[in-house]
Amino acid sequence: MIKPKIAPSILAANFNNLEKDIQMINVSEAEFIHCDVMDGVFVPNISFGMPIIQHVKKIAEKPLDVHLMIVNPENFIEAFAEAGASWLTVHYETCPHLHRTVNHIRENGMKASVCLNPHTPVRVLEDIISELDMVLLMSVNPGFGGQDFIHHTYKKVRQLKKLILESKSQCLIEVDGGVNYVTGKKLVEAGADVLVAGSFVFGSENPEETIRNLRNI
Ligand code: DX5
Ligand code: ZN
Repeated sequence: MIKPKIAPSILAANFNNLEKDIQMINVSEAEFIHCDVMDGVFVPNISFGMPIIQHVKKIAEKPLDVHLMIVNPENFIEAFAEAGASWLTVHYETCPHLHRTVNHIRENGMKASVCLNPHTPVRVLEDIISELDMVLLMSVNPGFGGQDFIHHTYKKVRQLKKLILESKSQCLIEVDGGVNYVTGKKLVEAGADVLVAGSFVFGSENPEETIRNLRNI
C-alpha cells in the first residue's frame, strides 16, 4: 500500500503557542500544514484568516494547504498567495465559475484544489478533473473539528479514483474530517492520497508519533 501524505489541521492546535505545534509539524513526517479558513457564512463557524497564515508561513518548513470555507473565494486568491499558501482549496458549492477560479489559482502560482461537501456527488467534477491538482472530499460537514466520520466517503473516494484514472490526470485525493487510524486505513485502501487530521493528531499524547503512525497506517 502506498503511504499516504499527512496534513495536520492546525484548527486543533494550541493557539496560545502555535509556534510549538508548527515546529512539531516541521520535524514530523507530515507533508503539508492544513489551514482551515471559515467565514461564518458558508459554514456556521469562524476560524482565522490572513494574519495567522502569514505568521504560520514565517516558521513553516512544509507547504501550506489552505482550505477556504468562505463565500466568494475568488476575491481572495491573490491575498492567500501573498500570505503564503502553496495549495489553495475552494469549495465547489461556493464557485459558480469554478473553471475561472481554478485557473486564477494556478495563475497565482498555487496548486488548485476543489472540495466537495458530503452531499455533493463526485460526478460534478467530470468536466474539470484534468485541470485540478487535488480534490478534497469532506468526510464531515465543514465547520468544526472533532466530528464523526461519514462512512459514505469511502464510496466517493473509489468513484473519484476511477474518474482520475479515466482522465489520466495526476490529481491527488485528500480527505478531511474524522480521520483516525481506522478510517484512515480504509480511506487509503479506497484510494486516498492525503489524509487531513486535526483532533486525532493534536489530541493525542504524542502528535509527532501519531503523524508517523498515520503515515505508516
Ligand atoms: C472541518 C475542517 C477540518 C477539521 C478536521 O471543517 O475542514 O480540516 O480541522 O478536524 P478533525 O480531524 O478533528 O475531524
Ligand atoms: Zn479542512
